Amino acid sequence: MMAISVNSDIPRLVMFRCFVLFANVFVAAGAPWIYPYAPDVGPDKSDPFPVFPDSFAFGASTSAYQIEGGWLSGGKGFSIWDAFSHIPGNIANGDTGDVAIDHYNRFHEDVLLLQRFGVKHYRFSIAWTRIMPTGVEPVNEQGVKFYNDLINALIDAGITPYVTLFHSDMPLALQLRNGNAFLLPDFPKLFSDYARVVFRSFGDRVKTWFTFNEPWCSAVLGTSGGEVPYQIAHSILLAHAEAVAVYRSEFKSQLGAVGIVLNTAHFFPGSTHAEDVASALRSYDFNFNWFAQPIYGGGDYPDVMRRSLGQRLPTFTAEQRKKLNGSADFIAINIYSASINSPGTTPFPDPSPTFWSDINVTSATLSSWPTSDMGWAIVPEGMRGLLRYLSSMYKYPIYITENGVALQETSVESAVNDTSRSQFIHDHIKELGKALTVDNVDVRGYFVWSIFDNLEWGSGFTKKFGMVHVDHSTLDRTPKHSLYWYKSLIDGDDFVL
Ligand code: BGC
Repeated sequence: MMAISVNSDIPRLVMFRCFVLFANVFVAAGAPWIYPYAPDVGPDKSDPFPVFPDSFAFGASTSAYQIEGGWLSGGKGFSIWDAFSHIPGNIANGDTGDVAIDHYNRFHEDVLLLQRFGVKHYRFSIAWTRIMPTGVEPVNEQGVKFYNDLINALIDAGITPYVTLFHSDMPLALQLRNGNAFLLPDFPKLFSDYARVVFRSFGDRVKTWFTFNEPWCSAVLGTSGGEVPYQIAHSILLAHAEAVAVYRSEFKSQLGAVGIVLNTAHFFPGSTHAEDVASALRSYDFNFNWFAQPIYGGGDYPDVMRRSLGQRLPTFTAEQRKKLNGSADFIAINIYSASINSPGTTPFPDPSPTFWSDINVTSATLSSWPTSDMGWAIVPEGMRGLLRYLSSMYKYPIYITENGVALQETSVESAVNDTSRSQFIHDHIKELGKALTVDNVDVRGYFVWSIFDNLEWGSGFTKKFGMVHVDHSTLDRTPKHSLYWYKSLIDGDDFVL
């Protein structure tokens, strides 16, 4: 990414204040609230930490493949990650999720750890291949038992479970049918059949469901260009709508809520100029509204995407639009970073378009922004910007289902001194709190990614996101500074770092 350097804060702050005024008018007129980056300086910085309502959910998130291990245990089938991780060169250091952090065998200990640190809201995912080893019936009762035991342990410990049905670990047997199971014509039926089993098995105790985690990643990362990303996204949206229809028609008496987890950065326009504002909005359209608008905003894709992609963007039937529109009870977002956006430079016409040439936006970061061990810019102000944007667009309650930071931690000693992770979480929660208390955004929960160090996909165990250090030879768990700090925040004792 290109770095933009900023010479002086003063003109920018004056410009920012003017723009806020302008933005207020803009919002009042019903347009999205989007404004250029300005560092959080001035009186706000010394403001007291916002006061959160008792009902606000402070939690932590994980996913099955990243923590469970037990890849051959309890009748589980293979997922695409089991296969991919066993091909040399695919994952850093040859790491795999075969054992991961052995949560499969140590979940009792892990639940006690959550309880000890006051984390009363826990989001995890179910491995489709534990419930249905080949992706279809028969159901594997040992897999059902594992999640029953986990859910019961959580509830006994006073922890509310939040469950994702799909977090990247597609059953291998489905993938082998055509090379990309999302593109199977009956994928929506396959997924909703699996969802039905999950709702039936655990819905008496689980009251918050997420169908998919980050469909944008499934559609864009590691796929080819042309129309493929849009076809995958289309299929996931239809599968989501089908599963929600199953939940609402067959399991209404469970009185739960259902949604989907979308990922986005916050997109600041490079300036108040119309083309920069349009670029930030275009980034939101191609990254977020691509999924959000069909679900929360009327059942169809953003006009900007339709105009840019033409026939490459699939179309919904009237019946599908009806099913999609309103097919979630809340907005759930994973946010890690932010960028500054201006027009892109793709030649027109582009002979072999990809998602990136389609979006055609230049996303930059400031050299003053620190970066995480993933190389991602750390921009707490993006949290508030995102929440204000979301609430100007859609009238749904919002959960931040993932936010966190990878730090370089080469020993347990350095890991437990992760004060910069505590600072990261503190600063992001403070910005979220301002959106809640100053801007009146209806945000109801915040989940740290992640409670444990875990398998960070292609980076293996080299990237550390956890508030708990895990030693990969002994599998010992050691809480870090950030978890102690998070506990004090949850307890309402001490927000000061
Ligand atoms: C994913 C997690 C991942 C995290 C950090 C999110 O996009 O849901 O599975 O580990 O980001 O990369």
